[in-house]
Amino acid sequence: MSKIAVVGSINTDFVVRAARFPAPGETLLGESFAVYGGGNGANQAIAAARLGATVEFFGAAGRDPQSIERVQQFVADGVGTTNIITFDGFGGIAMIQVEESSGQNAITLVPGANLLLTPDLVTTRLEAWTRPGDLLCLQLEVPLETVAATLALKERFGMTAILNAAPFDARLSELLSLVDHLIVNEIEAGQLLGGGSISRDDAAAAGARLLASGVRTTAIITLGRYGAVLVDLEGHLMIPAPTVPVVDTTGAGDAFVGAFCAALSRGMDTRDAARSAVIAGSLSVQKPGAQPSLPTSSELAASFSLSD
Ligand code: RIB
Repeated sequence: MSKIAVVGSINTDFVVRAARFPAPGETLLGESFAVYGGGNGANQAIAAARLGATVEFFGAAGRDPQSIERVQQFVADGVGTTNIITFDGFGGIAMIQVEESSGQNAITLVPGANLLLTPDLVTTRLEAWTRPGDLLCLQLEVPLETVAATLALKERFGMTAILNAAPFDARLSELLSLVDHLIVNEIEAGQLLGGGSISRDDAAAAGARLLASGVRTTAIITLGRYGAVLVDLEGHLMIPAPTVPVVDTTGAGDAFVGAFCAALSRGMDTRDAARSAVIAGSLSVQKPGAQPSLPTSSELAASFSLSD
């Protein structure tokens, strides 16, 4: 079993649920408020660890009470924390509104300490930790320079890189040739290809274009309630999602990425790993919050087996 290094963000999510999204300038009465652990990186690390993977987190936290709770959550879920650097000031904050009727969200992010994760802070630590064959899981809520330096380093160490290109950064295209498995949602896929959001019907062709743009092995586009499409050198695979009641879509993409990495770390092939990831995503949308909704091994096993 290989280990997973997650290099990424730690956020605290302040979540308001309301009947609908407010219009600009409008004051709307919400229905509930809650604070949850969040951040693409932290969510993906916890998602993989809950599914039994050995995960180490490389990231930056603040000294605020929320950041301290975020690190405590890593410990509770068995994610390694010795490579988290703590800075004075605030960690990342996400203000999230969830629309009650659809479970869709709108997120405003203030990166805080995540922006202080410079390349040298990660590469020296990662070099000391990693072994050939380990997995590297990246997203774009930390400086792109750090993502680039980490990808360059993994080339020397024989790691496999999984990049979740969220949020979109136009400078990313130069790095795609260092990425083994690219995971994006339909909006990010469209942005990477220089157009609008991808529809289910366009997804296989869009995935093929992403692969042709330099990604090494696999391009995956997640499609919300429709599941995901995977494109590799053998062609494409549509993976439909089961129909489930949607409470909150926040963190569903992270559940997907974490589950994909956890499955690869156990030696599963990419197509089966993506099948299990679709089910993990569909489990996560049925509960509120990012980190509280990430499934455990037994929850995933109850809904997914390789014979499915
Ligand atoms: O993917 C969901 C996450 O995006 C939230 O937890 C929020 O913190 C933002 O990073």
